[in-house]
Parts: sequence; structure tokens; C-alpha cells
Amino acid sequence: MIVCVCRRISDREIARHARAGLSFDEIQLELGVATQCGCCEETARGVAAQCRSAQPVAALHNTLVQPEPIAAH
Ligand code: FES
Repeated sequence: MIVCVCRRISDREIARHARAGLSFDEIQLELGVATQCGCCEETARGVAAQCRSAQPVAALHNTLVQPEPIAAH
């Protein structure tokens, strides 16, 4: 879903950056979300906050999944 119509930024893009550990200000700087009319700021902040609160679960999940070793030839 497009959150920021002015900059054509989706909730997925915001979520991806939030999960990578960026703050809202950093996401705003990186993507330009909520830098024009500002109508999307509350929604964009909400998406980022939801993803940050879910991050510890994702981080825990990632510790349980071991990457497969690369075969040496
Ligand atoms: S809708 Fe995001 S700045 Fe206008």
C-alpha cells in the first residue's frame, strides 16, 4: 500500500528500513517520506513503530535459522 502519495513510498519500503534498524528520521532522510505535504507522517511513523516493536521477534527467529554452508569445489 502506498503510504506517501507525494513520494510514492509504500508501507513495505518503510517497514524494510525500520526492520534494518533505521529511526523514523533516518527513514525520512533516506526515502523522503513525509517531506512534502506531510499528510502521511502519522501513518508512516505508525508503520515504522510497528516494525521496530516486532524486530526482537524477527531477530530471535534469525538466530535459529542457520545459513547453509557454501560448498567448496
Ligand atoms: S503524502 Fe507524503 S509527503 Fe505528501
